[in-house]
Amino acid sequence: MRKCAAVVLAAGLGTRMKSKKAKVLHEVAGRPMGYFPVKAALASGASRIVVVVGHQGEIVAEKMRGLFPKADLRFATQDKQLGTGHAVLSAKKALAGFDGDVLVLYGDVPLLGAATLRAFRKYHAKEKATASVLSMYFDDPTGYGRVLRNPDGNVERIVEERDTDEDEKMIDEVNSGVGLFDKKVLFSALAKIGTNNDQGEYYLTDVIEILAKRKKKVAGWCHDEPVELMGINDRADLAVVAGVMRHWICLEWMKKGVTLTDPESTFIDEGIRIGNDTEIGPGVCLKGATRIGKGCLIEAGAHLTDAVLADEIHIKPYSVIEDGKIAKGAQIGPFARIRPGTQVGPISKVGNFVELKKVKTGRNTKISHLTYLGDAELGSNVNVGAGTITCNYDGVNKFKTIIKDGAFIGSDSQLVAPVTVGKGAYIGSGSTITKDVPAEALAVTRAPLFQKKGYAKKYRKKK
Ligand code: UD1
Ligand code: CA
Repeated sequence: MRKCAAVVLAAGLGTRMKSKKAKVLHEVAGRPMGYFPVKAALASGASRIVVVVGHQGEIVAEKMRGLFPKADLRFATQDKQLGTGHAVLSAKKALAGFDGDVLVLYGDVPLLGAATLRAFRKYHAKEKATASVLSMYFDDPTGYGRVLRNPDGNVERIVEERDTDEDEKMIDEVNSGVGLFDKKVLFSALAKIGTNNDQGEYYLTDVIEILAKRKKKVAGWCHDEPVELMGINDRADLAVVAGVMRHWICLEWMKKGVTLTDPESTFIDEGIRIGNDTEIGPGVCLKGATRIGKGCLIEAGAHLTDAVLADEIHIKPYSVIEDGKIAKGAQIGPFARIRPGTQVGPISKVGNFVELKKVKTGRNTKISHLTYLGDAELGSNVNVGAGTITCNYDGVNKFKTIIKDGAFIGSDSQLVAPVTVGKGAYIGSGSTITKDVPAEALAVTRAPLFQKKGYAKKYRKKK
């Protein structure tokens, strides 16, 4: 096959999105939708990718660069959106020095996969065509450009819906927008297109007629999976396309050996990794750079963002983890909140209504109920009783709490940081600890107990 570069058109604002944000930045499966055509083009063998940006071009380019740090990704700016033909023309400089075929893709068609693009490139090569268009049949072709073929089956012209006559309107083979062109021929034809159409725009599709008139072969490959070519124009389309993507991602994980109790309600972003024999319950959301090991159980409603889980971890229902690292065999939740910078050690246990922020624990440490720990370092075999609070903030600065191996923190204790509880030390329930506790010591702060026999009965009588 010939060398191939790709041009991804992503300059439009997408008026129908009714958004301040450029359309290609709206997310599908946790990635800006423009990420997907670039990924597919790269995976189909395109060597250089030019993204044509316009609206919020700087932001779009920055996001894309971050997502493909290693690819030969270039950006071309189309200051005014004068049409798809004009957009491709804007990529001319960025394609300098490249010779071969140019694949044109739209930034708002995220479901189109690399396998289809590879097959399309093969078809184009086999047909020995100068240009090829990817078309599809739609029961309702409204809104799309219609594909007109000549008697020998090659494509002669593409007419935009608004420029069709009554007969052309009846054609149900439509242009997907994906095209493959010999680079030299493409740019020589683009130099000839005008704006003589209903929208007064430079249409890429007008290149086809110019090529046909020059007796160049334009082949048309009709794709039998039109869902892949679904474009996003408004937020209703966005939801439909995102739903299809979600379904595909779930299918892929199930095929790789992950059990999804209810794929319909499971949200797994692009780029997540999950080990096999992991089981995921209903309503679970896995986002960002989350990595999950083998044999884990993630129960209903858990939300994990940038979480890193080793093997055999049990996340109980409705727990939220953000940028936390959980070591092998640990248990979290139900209703636990793990905030950024937290590392839970092996076989440790974080129970219900526990919030941890920037906490590191050793092995087999238990923080089982109703606790807030922030900026704390816990050793191994520590037991933190219910209702424990690290007072880590004095209103200005944050301070650290250190709890060494084997220490026992009695329920309802406050540890006023900076403070260290020594190895094996014992804190009596209800204590407020303001000074370091030596290893193996007992520390209790408690008001003396006061009792008066029979007083309650007398008191009630008086009232
Ligand atoms: C286009 C095709 C139509 C096809 C349809 C499929 C043309 C003239 N028409 O129409 O045949 O059936 O797609 O979805 O090509 N863009 C730019 N700069 C511009 C104009 C557009 O970057 O000046 C980008 C948009 O951001 C978008 C893509 O090109 O990603 C398509 O543009 P759009 O205006 O949506 O084209 P359609 O009218 O849908
Ligand atoms: Ca469109």
